[in-house]
Amino acid sequence: MEPAGQAPKRCAGAAPAFLRVAGCLAAFAAIVIAVHANEPGPSGNPDPDARADALVRAMTLDEKIHLLHGTLGFAYEGRPAPDGARGGAGFVPPLVRLGIPALQLNDGPLGVRNIDGGTEGRATALPSSQALAASFNSELAYESGRIMGREARARAYNVLLAGGANVERDAWNGRNFEYLGEDPILAGRLVAAQITGIQSEGVVSTVKHLVANTQETDRHWVDMSVDERSLREIDLLPFEIAVKESGVGSVMCAYNKVNGIYACENAHLLNDILKSEWGFKGWVMSDWGATHSTAQAVDAGLDQEFWEERYFAGALKAAVEKGEVSKERIDDMVRRILRSLAAIGALDRAETLQPVDAAAGLAVAQRVAESGIVLLENRSGLLPFRAEDLKKIAVIGRRADIGVLSGGGSSRVESIGGVTLDDTPPGMPAELAMFASTGWHHSSPLKAIATMAASATVEFTSGVDADAAARLAASADVAIVFAWQSREEGKDLRTLSLPAGQDGLIRKVAAANPRTVVVLQTGGSVLTPWAPQVGALLAAWYPGNRGAEAIANILFGRVNPSGRLPISFPRAQADLPRPHPAESLADPMKPGVAPSRQPVVRLSEGLAVGYRWYDAQKKTPAYEFGYGLSFTTFAYANLAVNPDLSVAFDLANTGDRAGLEVAQLYVEFPPSAAEPSKRLAGWVRVELAPGERRRVRIAADPYALRVWNTSASEWRHPAGRYRMHVGASSRKLPLVQEVDFRDVQVD
Ligand code: BGC
Repeated sequence: MEPAGQAPKRCAGAAPAFLRVAGCLAAFAAIVIAVHANEPGPSGNPDPDARADALVRAMTLDEKIHLLHGTLGFAYEGRPAPDGARGGAGFVPPLVRLGIPALQLNDGPLGVRNIDGGTEGRATALPSSQALAASFNSELAYESGRIMGREARARAYNVLLAGGANVERDAWNGRNFEYLGEDPILAGRLVAAQITGIQSEGVVSTVKHLVANTQETDRHWVDMSVDERSLREIDLLPFEIAVKESGVGSVMCAYNKVNGIYACENAHLLNDILKSEWGFKGWVMSDWGATHSTAQAVDAGLDQEFWEERYFAGALKAAVEKGEVSKERIDDMVRRILRSLAAIGALDRAETLQPVDAAAGLAVAQRVAESGIVLLENRSGLLPFRAEDLKKIAVIGRRADIGVLSGGGSSRVESIGGVTLDDTPPGMPAELAMFASTGWHHSSPLKAIATMAASATVEFTSGVDADAAARLAASADVAIVFAWQSREEGKDLRTLSLPAGQDGLIRKVAAANPRTVVVLQTGGSVLTPWAPQVGALLAAWYPGNRGAEAIANILFGRVNPSGRLPISFPRAQADLPRPHPAESLADPMKPGVAPSRQPVVRLSEGLAVGYRWYDAQKKTPAYEFGYGLSFTTFAYANLAVNPDLSVAFDLANTGDRAGLEVAQLYVEFPPSAAEPSKRLAGWVRVELAPGERRRVRIAADPYALRVWNTSASEWRHPAGRYRMHVGASSRKLPLVQEVDFRDVQVD
């Protein structure tokens, strides 16, 4: 049994009584990650504050300013890469006199990006963050972080721009695949574990993008308008958990405005909440080109500018000399950067290039993919296939002969084994095309399936000709359609339907052969109107460097699926809080130029995000948050809610195969709390043999038991009757019991 991996802050002290109890009990369930979270990295400095202070005292103003801005680390628009840069997203040259190393930054969060890495620089392409979230597995998040950290370090990078912590509010968002789904506790716990893994390898991790960066349309200018309570309970919560539980070294502020003020010069977000309330000791770096001022941004809490050096280079020095920016604040900015570097040991070593253990990376990538694939439909037990029953298999779908899809943008990794890029719009500059392109990691579904079914004939067709695909399907025992949906940074989706006529293709193939399995490779939810016609349906997300092998293992039953949806799949676009994607107000002929009117997006759904929205609106999704089938079945019984807020219940494997259930706990607050619906408060991953029954416990996550009171500006724990729900998804909750928190026994 694997617990959820909560790392509680404290068991006594100022916290309200029942929260304290919950915190103590979570400690019970805490796994190894909690231990890592509080330790410096392997070569980490035990007193990073003293180390940073000493260096700050020794620095001249020029040396300090030097550290507060950086450029791209690769050649761009005819400019060569800076001397000594490793080719990553960012670079700050070393301060040799003081022994301060260069800052070599590279992108995550799906592996080490390596834009200029060439063949030698190839790295493990991890599955998308949605796949990781679907595993509900903190230990795996930690392992994936360790792989990224190790591979970054091996290539002499000391700062990784990972992990992505924006809560999914909009199914349209082109970057949803970089984030961990629609629930802030799930996202927060997993991102904290991942960051702990990255930093344990001696690399600073950067949680991004603070905050409400929930769409790509007009991302440089858009004003995201959101009420304070929703901001605290939803959008900021994963960042809060990351800061408090992982000791993350750096935070990247977002491009967009939040309630009228750019995130990177928003004092409420950066000074008041992040640095004062949460006690963040690291530094805030701007997203690339997200700095808009000098003194205002500095005073608001921004510590470092990337990548244009417009406001924090010469202009910052001038502002100090004119007295517009205080020397104390400059020292604070520098100290924060040096402290984070000292904490992971980067001030005490010369980075050297090391060989990468590709096998270790690929093994973790495959585990994430296998744990994150969600079985959505399985009619008449079509899956798993028995290889010996199959004489002919039809494999259908774009590039299913060569690879699996990856999203585009700063997170796309130059994967081990190579990647085939999709075409980009004609006329796009080469560097931009490199950046934007989606691509196909060379993990071939066709080959992986042929390996599994060695005695069958396995035939491939791309599906461009739907009739030819249907003919092939009709001639085969089973047909497997690899469907795709591309997403990329900088661009939102225009439709939630599968593109390029794939709905029609699937219908034709399924009509020709009802033993059709659809494997979705998507960066988020899609409409699945044909689902009742297909035999089985898998959500494989962007499955990464060993995606095809993972998919084949599930299709043929070597792995029993245990992934659960970290997002809701809608039935129709009309059911979404924003039924249409945002329209850009910028002039398409003038890229980079601010639109003449201020784009504003009102996040009027507020707290009602994801499954909370469907609950509050009494709408039924196509597939709900937390849902996922197994090749076996599970039964829940005998719920007991303890006065300390933990729950215990019996979980049984009622099928004839070993399987892993993700049992989930949801808390429904008393009406006085004015929450739109129940919330996920914990989960546990339980592996059971056929027929096995076990008593299982889940401790409610302390972060899930708070309600933000905006007028008092504090967290509260409303008294009253709570309903604790336990079950297999946000909508299949067979066990429920009420508990009165006033009666809770504490201490
Ligand atoms: C993205 C960041 C990324 C940065 C550096 C920006 O466009 O929003 O997520 O880390 O580029 O590549």
